[in-house]
Amino acid sequence: MSTQMNALFWKRFAAQVWEKKSMAFPNIDSPLRDIDAERVFHMLVSYADLCRKANDVGGFKLFLEGVRQYDDETLQLLPQKKDKSLTGYHQRMQKLFSDYCLVCDELLQVSEQNWGLLSRFTHELYRHVGFPHRFSEIGLYLGNYQKTPFGVHVDNCGVFSFPVVGTKKFRIWDGSYVKKNPDLVEAHQYDKFKKNSQVLTAKPGDMTYWPSRAWHIAESDGSFSATWSLGVWVDRPHKDVIGETLKSFLEQTMGPDADRAVVPFKDLHGPSGEVSALPGLYQKTQKALQALDEDTLHDLLTQNWLTQISKQGLKTSPRAKMRAPLSAQDAISLRLPSPILWSPLQKTKKICVAFAGETYFHEASASFLKLLKHLNEGQTCLVAKYLKGPGKSADLRLLQTLQSRGALEIRSRSAKSLP
Ligand SMILES: [Fe+2]
Repeated sequence: MSTQMNALFWKRFAAQVWEKKSMAFPNIDSPLRDIDAERVFHMLVSYADLCRKANDVGGFKLFLEGVRQYDDETLQLLPQKKDKSLTGYHQRMQKLFSDYCLVCDELLQVSEQNWGLLSRFTHELYRHVGFPHRFSEIGLYLGNYQKTPFGVHVDNCGVFSFPVVGTKKFRIWDGSYVKKNPDLVEAHQYDKFKKNSQVLTAKPGDMTYWPSRAWHIAESDGSFSATWSLGVWVDRPHKDVIGETLKSFLEQTMGPDADRAVVPFKDLHGPSGEVSALPGLYQKTQKALQALDEDTLHDLLTQNWLTQISKQGLKTSPRAKMRAPLSAQDAISLRLPSPILWSPLQKTKKICVAFAGETYFHEASASFLKLLKHLNEGQTCLVAKYLKGPGKSADLRLLQTLQSRGALEIRSRSAKSLP
């Protein structure tokens, strides 16, 4: 029987499972199944090609017999196009190593298509459980390793796993049980604790989930498996995020004083112990914070929220391809299924525009807002048609910045704009 991942599923998931219990969901009915062995292999090879070109191991980690390898060796043992498939790569590796585990964390940099599928999944999840202040990230684990090289561990992120080759088995313990049995921490031998564990088993097409406090280890009989997983980090409290916003406000308004690490003072206290006055730096801080009127606070919080949601709650966005900057004569559209966000500000007449975690304050004309609307609706737009009035040069500059961040794609270039 398949698990329908519809609104009812997510509603139940949020109420009964999220951050509460570990579960396997057989045969999920989700577009994520399209991220199959073939697509994962293509992503791996594209990302490995980038790493080889840059001579930098990037998000790859290779463990042999449980021991992390140096970057040079890892670079030499990454998947290649000539392996043809994940199984082909495994055949090459198993001739060399009886126990290997390849981990890759940054795969989404190279796949716009899979990034789109994943953001649809996370969007549904977030709608039901809330938007994570940190992010979600995708990791790939493949090999014939018998146990996770770093033993029984906890990651502080809830994890959804999706096997694409082989059967995957995860052994899970509750955080409170591990607290009472600290021998389990980073353990590779844990026979006496097995009776208190839960085992989740999944094959391609299935999904497993465990909460952020669950301790876990993957187990295998030595046969090959490849699994990608989505970690949803829930370790960044709201107060920290707002604190950072206030911090940047103080940096803007207090200048170098915001960075002072010592506070000059006349007297710490009088003979009675009374502290009768605040030192100058604190008085200055009080003045700066008093400038935080309702409109300024609204605008700071708006910028904070747009910064977070414009990343779609994912750690990595597909890399922008370097291209010549767009001109007014070009026809453009969105590059990803990810809108350019914007919100009116209250302190000024500007709007806050956000994409991929960056924000821009912009004096927007009605025609520029119409351009954003049409782009976000999926239309291809001739830039010149929307550039009007005294702000048109600034409009073009912002569009070029958004293009360099990977928001926009040039669909057709007019003869005028070609070099
Ligand atoms: Fe883990």
